[in-house]
Amino acid sequence: MFGPIIHVLGARPNFVKAAPVIAALDVEQAVIHTGQHYDEKMSEIFFRELGLPEPDVNLGVGSASHAVQTAALMVGLEREFTERSPGLVIVYGDVNSTIAAALVAAKMSIPVAHVEAGLRSFDPTMPEEVNRRLTDQLSDLCLVTSPEAIGHLAAEGVDVGRIHFVGNPMIDTLLKNMASFDVARVRAAYDLPDRYVLATMHRPANVDAPETAAALVRRLHEIADLADLVIPLHPRGRAVLLAAGLAGHQGVRILDPLGYIDFIAAVRGAAMVVTDSGGLQEETTILGVPCLTVRPNTERPITITHGTNRLVTFDELVPATRKALESPHGRAGTPPLWDGQAGPRIAEVIMRFIGE
Ligand code: UD1
Repeated sequence: MFGPIIHVLGARPNFVKAAPVIAALDVEQAVIHTGQHYDEKMSEIFFRELGLPEPDVNLGVGSASHAVQTAALMVGLEREFTERSPGLVIVYGDVNSTIAAALVAAKMSIPVAHVEAGLRSFDPTMPEEVNRRLTDQLSDLCLVTSPEAIGHLAAEGVDVGRIHFVGNPMIDTLLKNMASFDVARVRAAYDLPDRYVLATMHRPANVDAPETAAALVRRLHEIADLADLVIPLHPRGRAVLLAAGLAGHQGVRILDPLGYIDFIAAVRGAAMVVTDSGGLQEETTILGVPCLTVRPNTERPITITHGTNRLVTFDELVPATRKALESPHGRAGTPPLWDGQAGPRIAEVIMRFIGE
């Protein structure tokens, strides 16, 4: 008998990607929450809003250095996989919970499916890039959101029989909830101005070092000279950005992390977005909101070729913001298979795999 399918979820973006996959699968499933993200606003609110099932277990690993966190994830996951004998483990994205689950499952000879396989920034300094490469090597099913990922996987020697282009489940969630993203409601709820730039910043490269954070804050203040800046702050970097004086400009509105519905509504109502997030590059592409990504590279180039995204350096950020506010860079189109049906396509690939 084939054991249950286990979804391993740990961090905010995992929840958004998993919801349509769990909904589309009609077999015995269990959800392991690793506890990598644990604040109510980083975790529970997403489960509630996205209609995710209560996790069957929460490992409560919490925050720590990469080695300590990954080791705790692996110990907890090995125990759970031993008890539950899954037939297949599904992992999402590129966070530490993703690689930990793939590594434990592979060593226990449990098949692994990786949702969002093959994305590459080719930036070895990003912890996510390490997680992506290794997870794909360990996965029996590489479920791809974007066509260029197929070439990346092939170039790394992944057998083409393991690669399935299924589309983007994060966009399934976005399209499904579109009617709930009520800009007027979110404006009233958070007292947002009519015209604002929405910013999010949490990458280690941007927010961990005080000097870098200070340089970033100077640019964000210059943006706030042009238009009000609304910034829901991820807990990572919060202290450093505040110490660098982020709040010291009257045009800057700092918010706590928002739930999914309020956050995307705030994005939808923004004149433009400034970010270093991965998922937000994709969401702004579909919403048609201009996006400046403060990174030297992206694992999501399709958001540049088909969407509203642009990469900027610190020095380019303010001029590019001014330009985008004056004449917003429009949207070129929708990436292939970002059509709201990725969840059912993933379920189909998985059912075929189980059948075989
Ligand atoms: C993780 C992912 C990153 C993803 C991001 C989405 C890795 C290596 N990185 O980064 O790819 O873009 O999630 O949010 O997995 N913290 C809290 N409460 C929480 C969670 C975190 O206060 O619920 C704080 C802690 O101080 C912690 C820090 O945020 O040390 C970083 O958390 P961590 O899980 O290590 O990585 P993220 O920066 O969230």
